[in-house]
Amino acid sequence: MVIDGPGRKSRPADSHRYTGAMPRYEPLCWYENALYYDIVFDADTAREASFLQAAHRRYGRTRGRRMLEPACGSGRLVAVMARRGYSVTGFDISASMLDFARDRLRRRGLKGRLVEGRMENFEFRQKFDIAHCLVSTFKYLPDEDSARSHLRCVARALKPGGIYVLGLHLTDYRRRSCERERWVGKRRGTEVVCNIQGWPPDRRRRRERVRARLVVKRRGTERRFETHWQFRTYSLRQLRTLLRSVPELEQIETYDFNCDIRNPLPFDGAQNDNVLILRRRGIR
Ligand SMILES: C[S@@+](CC[C@H](N)C(=O)[O-])C[C@H]1O[C@@H](n2cnc3c(N)ncnc32)[C@H](O)[C@@H]1O
Repeated sequence: MVIDGPGRKSRPADSHRYTGAMPRYEPLCWYENALYYDIVFDADTAREASFLQAAHRRYGRTRGRRMLEPACGSGRLVAVMARRGYSVTGFDISASMLDFARDRLRRRGLKGRLVEGRMENFEFRQKFDIAHCLVSTFKYLPDEDSARSHLRCVARALKPGGIYVLGLHLTDYRRRSCERERWVGKRRGTEVVCNIQGWPPDRRRRRERVRARLVVKRRGTERRFETHWQFRTYSLRQLRTLLRSVPELEQIETYDFNCDIRNPLPFDGAQNDNVLILRRRGIR
């Protein structure tokens, strides 16, 4: 269950203070523990999958059902889209995430191609009808060159008329306080509470520091983990500039993280959470 996820309201970090002894958190790269990631973020999977299908129907200009997911992670969307009849290829930098994703496909009797790869530089012989990258994963790309290279690789991987669904938060550089989101997920006796904290952005370096703290409860035991990373920041203008530098992809429409296909929104920075529909130009 998502209590307060991306696109929903967040509260300032200093709105309440902890007065007791500080609990200890073990360092953990949570992409090395795919299960916890998957438990926390699976709540939105069905809704996002339905949105991808609807966007493909509405904006795609190709016939097939070949789907590419760069940075596919634990494969939550790979599995659902495979079950819904897509021929899915996913890749990720993390071998643990891929192992988890492969295991899920195997257990469910589903097919999918999962390989190790990097978002900033990839190439596939086959061409795709739809590609997607949601939940701000794109912001792991650390600089303009890698972000542009990623978009060019996506454009090359798509058939002309194929679409790229790209979901990311824009950055409010005026923000001076921390932001927090809280997610809770449960699966077969394991409960994971995830508190994500984002520090105010560094405008000059175009970085925002993020920390996820996990409390994992299972069979009466409790463990605490924390993981840190940096996102690249984007204002509306910075994202527009980047998109203009990759003219092979035409921006067609914008939504927010509610992923309601009936509710397209202007791309004007009014909401921080944006899901862009980009389409590969060219002759079919
Ligand atoms: C937030 S998860 C998203 C996973 C999946 N797309 C989803 O929607 O659940 C981010 C993923 O990006 C992967 N990742 C981060 N940097 C990457 C890179 N440069 N190339 C490929 N994968 C990367 C991580 O290993 C992780 O699995």
